[in-house]
Amino acid sequence: MKTYLTYDDVNIVPKFSEVLSREDVDLSTRFTKNTTMSTPIVSSPMDTVTEYKMASEMLDRGGVGVIHRFQSIEKQSLDMKRIWNQWDSWYNIGNPKKDRTDHGRVFDEWYKGIRHWNSPPTKSDYEDLHELLWFADEAEKDEEYWSKRPLCAAIGTTGDYLERAQELVKNGCNVLLIDVAHGHHKLVGDALEKIKKNISGVEVVAGNIATKEGAEFLLQSGADGIRVGIGNGSLCETRIRTGVGLPQVSTLLDVVTICDDFDVPCIADGGIRNIGDVCKGLGCGADSVMLGSLFSGTKESPGQIEKIGEWPNEKLFKKYRGSASRDSKGNDKNVEGNHKVVPYKGKVVRLLSDIEDGIRSSFSYVGANNLSEYHSKVEFVRVTQAGTIEAKPHLIGE
Ligand code: XMP
Repeated sequence: MKTYLTYDDVNIVPKFSEVLSREDVDLSTRFTKNTTMSTPIVSSPMDTVTEYKMASEMLDRGGVGVIHRFQSIEKQSLDMKRIWNQWDSWYNIGNPKKDRTDHGRVFDEWYKGIRHWNSPPTKSDYEDLHELLWFADEAEKDEEYWSKRPLCAAIGTTGDYLERAQELVKNGCNVLLIDVAHGHHKLVGDALEKIKKNISGVEVVAGNIATKEGAEFLLQSGADGIRVGIGNGSLCETRIRTGVGLPQVSTLLDVVTICDDFDVPCIADGGIRNIGDVCKGLGCGADSVMLGSLFSGTKESPGQIEKIGEWPNEKLFKKYRGSASRDSKGNDKNVEGNHKVVPYKGKVVRLLSDIEDGIRSSFSYVGANNLSEYHSKVEFVRVTQAGTIEAKPHLIGE
């Protein structure tokens, strides 16, 4: 019987490095065959993680927020349209007829948008203007790069999924993500083929799978990206309810060999509890990582902030729930997830920037200037239980 390892079982070996500044490393990557990101981070299509606000922040930072499917087609399409508008206006490239060099127009639109009618623009307004002008210039300099941003939303494989897919694409979606628990399934293959046949101008990420055979099946059915991870999510009950699932490090190492053969990127999804796990996922060869729990409880995640306790001892929380949880489904059938309240974390941008700092440092520790060098240089060692204890702060409580 094979032994499979997960994030806590391994560490990355430090190597000779010539990286002079962590700021110089390039975090850009691919989400699908033909879409690119400037940071390898994806927010999960869960109803307590990604709707418009999260997707908007992710787009702004160069990652991707996958808008979840547990809502009406109209509401999901509306979110998609808002994301498309954001991409179109910031990068100023959605409409090929627009004049991308017109700083005057960018200024006019900015001026119309600021709300300080009775007072001068604030410092933050000027920062926004600077950013908009920068984007206009960037879009002009490297239109190809900016025009390849993934605008992504999730669909299922049954019911009105094709109608949903068509509506999403009509509203600007250029990547559909087939969001089901068991991607190595005939229904997913059929859905992939139907989408490819009936809808043009859209790529498809399919999953979730955890084996080489699963990846091969999806790639042969036309997937443009693969989502990897079964039974490893933080709220997941699949393994305890069905015994099915594979530890993520060995799974990724298996799957990336097939993805490389097809030249299709893969996403490491689930089980990422800290920045070190993000780096290990990428180190296994994943092109991006998908985060659920790490982004739950943020300002941009959907849901109300709950206040527990009274001032000055009040604490703030938000709900995080599995897509297959009882809480989410509203019934007890095929429950394979749980729900939890998590401490309120504030703006997601702070987490994103911590994660990016961590990835840059990890690149520097192995001497990699970009993700492709990181993939080829990362070497893992297996750690013992003592090594796992040593890896965490261990003075406290001694
Ligand atoms: P993390 O660990 O980042 O995982 O919170 C997020 C991923 O977990 C998956 N997911 C589920 N898995 N039951 C499951 O078995 C569920 O109810 C469930 N909801 C989400 C999903 O792949 C997500 O990206």
